[in-house]
Amino acid sequence: MKFFLDTANINEIKEAVALGLIDGITTNPSLVAREKRDFKGLMKEITEIVDGPISAEVVATDEEGMFTEGMDLSKIHENIVVKVPMTPDGLKATRRFVNEGVRVNVTLVFSAAQALLAAKAGASYCSPFIGRLDDIAQVGMDLIQQIVTIYTNYAFQTEILVASIRNPVHIIEAAQLGADVATMPFSVIQKLFKHPLTDAGLAKFLSDWEQSGKL
Ligand code: E4P
Repeated sequence: MKFFLDTANINEIKEAVALGLIDGITTNPSLVAREKRDFKGLMKEITEIVDGPISAEVVATDEEGMFTEGMDLSKIHENIVVKVPMTPDGLKATRRFVNEGVRVNVTLVFSAAQALLAAKAGASYCSPFIGRLDDIAQVGMDLIQQIVTIYTNYAFQTEILVASIRNPVHIIEAAQLGADVATMPFSVIQKLFKHPLTDAGLAKFLSDWEQSGKL
């Protein structure tokens, strides 16, 4: 399973990259707005830190606007993946990006039907938002299971990019289902490391070592 970091924060990206676990980055307009920086400059800096797919989202909502914006973003670096919303215009733009050799991440996917459309449009990534489904009392992971089945049935090349991840259980369950990618906030990566028995075990090893007079 590939790990993407879901942030536009340079410090978090540098810290996560130092862990050696990050295969790519996803951003969205809300995450970028928090950084209060020039969008394209920020994306360029991220491409200089991470050698992997970097999703940059368009904010236009019409096909032509999305296409113009996305082509402009794609020129920042070959690793830029244009992120478009799951709308009819978004999918029309997706087909045009694909024809231009530009990779697309279709975002805001909340149903299996939408995921099927994203794959048929030729998206490189489909981003189902599982945390936001959980938030409204629908089981987000059920959607991942449905998409895995559909994409496997027809050997779609579109990768399932599990998004809106809130906790380590989301990651484990998505990995058990065989999802291609999980994109997560930095706080979730930190939680993945945690186990009280690791902490207790390490403390015991070190105290035994100290008491032995360090041999
Ligand atoms: C995915 O690409 C999105 O940026 C993100 O996962 C959304 O997560 P949220 O629901 O926590 O905002």
